[in-house]
Parts: sequence; structure tokens; C-alpha cells
Amino acid sequence: MDGNGRWASARGLPRAVGHERGVEALRKTVEAAQELGLSYLTVFSFSTENWHRPVSEVNALFGLLKAYVKRDLGQLAREGVRIRVLGTRDGLPKDVQALVDQAEERTKDNTKFNLCIAFNYGGREEIMRAARQLAIAIKIGSVDPSTLDEDVFATYLDTAGIPDPDLVIRTSGESRLSNFLIWQSAYSELIFMDVLWPDFRGEHLQQAIEEFQGRERRFGGLATGSA
Ligand code: IPE
Ligand code: MG
Repeated sequence: MDGNGRWASARGLPRAVGHERGVEALRKTVEAAQELGLSYLTVFSFSTENWHRPVSEVNALFGLLKAYVKRDLGQLAREGVRIRVLGTRDGLPKDVQALVDQAEERTKDNTKFNLCIAFNYGGREEIMRAARQLAIAIKIGSVDPSTLDEDVFATYLDTAGIPDPDLVIRTSGESRLSNFLIWQSAYSELIFMDVLWPDFRGEHLQQAIEEFQGRERRFGGLATGSA
């Protein structure tokens, strides 16, 4: 979800206003994803690198996550949405942690739709944390290193049990992953769109899915039908 700051600057507004409009875009996108029949949507809302921003902006982003969960949790829970927050809880204010735990706990039995929020998330940090957990498991003898494979390793990631993304969309015209789901997106289709996140709507999601449907996915193999 990139481009909130630029959206605001282009209108002479403070960056925080762009983030607020970004939350609106998130609401609409979650709705559209459900209507389009998707079962998983993962959004990147705060990266481990976003700590480099001014404290006031970091606090505004925490405030928005809290406001979003407080305002939308009830409805999302009733709609059968399961919420999971990817990333490290380390460094997050206690009230944010508590709210995140509450959102996960309250929706843990829901199966209709999965909303994953990458918050205080960085792909390398996630992989490193998984490696550390695994090292501990090996050290205490509960895992035999010779049995390790990609599937076993993936169970130590925050996305354990969540399928790899078929499609990754980045808004705002930047063409990079910026540490988003770097393990999981190894074979994802990537789509970079010129729209700034606050302007993102269901029609953009639909457009991206249509482009995705036209792509040929080979996963390192050969095209179907080729000799
Ligand atoms: C994305 O918008 C929102 C977050 C990273 C939280 P940005 O804040 O990155 O907006 P730009 O890239 O400065 O326009
Ligand atoms: Mg940005």
C-alpha cells in the first residue's frame, strides 16, 4: 500500500491525511476482495524499516492501526474474516500489541476470508526469526537437521499455514518488493500499478487480477503443451 505521502503532498496536505485516506482504501479493498471471491489478502502496512520515519509519523501509523482494528474488528469478525498480523511484536507499544492479539484471538475460528496485516514486518527479519527458532529447536534436540526441507522451514515463518501469494500488487509506481514476503513470493506474479494507494479501489484490484489471469505461470517448468 504505497503512495499515501505523495497523495497528500500533491494536495498540500500533511502526510497523516494521506495515511487516513489509505485506511479508507484498505476498507474498500478488503470489501472488494471478498466480493471478488478471494480467500486471502495480505497488506503491507508498516515495515521494520518504517521506524526510520519521524516519531510523529510512526505514532500516526500506530494510531491508524488501532483505529482500524477498533472500528472494524466487530464487523470483520461477524463477516467471518480471520485476521492475522505478520511481523515482530518486538518494539510495538503495549496497547498496539494487545489490540493485535485481541483481533487474532477473536477471529481465530473464522474461515470465510483471511486478512493478513503485515505490521512491523520485514521479510529478512521474519526469515531470521524463523532461523533462530529453528536453531533453538535443533539445539534442544526437538528437530533433526537432516529432516529439514523448505516445507518444514516455512512452518517457522509468520505465514505458517497461509498459502504463498499468487499475486503481489505494489501501488504508486515503484518497482520493488521492499522486503515484503520475500520467501513466500518466490513464484508470485508481480504487478506494479501507477495508482497511489489512497486512490486504490476494487476496480484496480479487478484490473490486476485480469492481468494476472493472462499470465502464464510455469514455476520453473515448461509451458503446458510444449514438448
Ligand atoms: C505507504 O505510503 C504507507 C506506509 C508505508 C505506512 P507512504 O507513506 O510510503 O507514501 P509515500 O511513498 O511517501 O508516497
Ligand atoms: Mg512509500
